Amino acid sequence: MFPELDLLRNECMNCTKCPLHSGRRNMVFGVGNPEAKVMFVGEGPGEQEDIQGKPFAGKSGQLLDKYLEIVDLSRNDNIYIANIVKCRPPQNRDPKPEEQDACIEHLRKQVKLIQPKIIVCLGRIAAQRLISPDFRVTSQHGQFIEKGGILFMGTFHPSALLRNPANKPHALSDFQALRDKIKELSL
Ligand code: URA
Repeated sequence: MFPELDLLRNECMNCTKCPLHSGRRNMVFGVGNPEAKVMFVGEGPGEQEDIQGKPFAGKSGQLLDKYLEIVDLSRNDNIYIANIVKCRPPQNRDPKPEEQDACIEHLRKQVKLIQPKIIVCLGRIAAQRLISPDFRVTSQHGQFIEKGGILFMGTFHPSALLRNPANKPHALSDFQALRDKIKELSL
């Protein structure tokens, strides 16, 4: 159905551009509707994602799905989810800049094929990579920033919300702002 995306998935499955490939059980390409107007980008696979081959498959994914549901979004229907790196960093450490550099071209190609109008960056790693290297989630979350015809917004990573639930109301207002933006743009 989406042959170019399948080709890219194959390319990623065979990728050995960085050392993360040697520890992976599964390459985690992405899930959702390839025709979605809204894309979410996380940091990289954790243990559950590495086992299941799907992004946000663990506890943080359950929390993400709750927020999505509140604003009428669903990974089975109207969004697409991917990560900055497609293979699990050991012990869930942050992906190193050189690992991000090796993988980012895959994500760029994925974005070109999906053509989202909005990209939501989940957490610091994605926001600093895709929006601005000095992006601060605590002060800039929820703001829409246009770059190359795409609106980017950074918000809290669901794992960070599990560690620090005090930020949950801020995350909720970011998702509500996203819903408003989707309506405003008739996406
Ligand atoms: N955290 C991420 O950033 N991405 C996932 O896919 C899972 C957890």
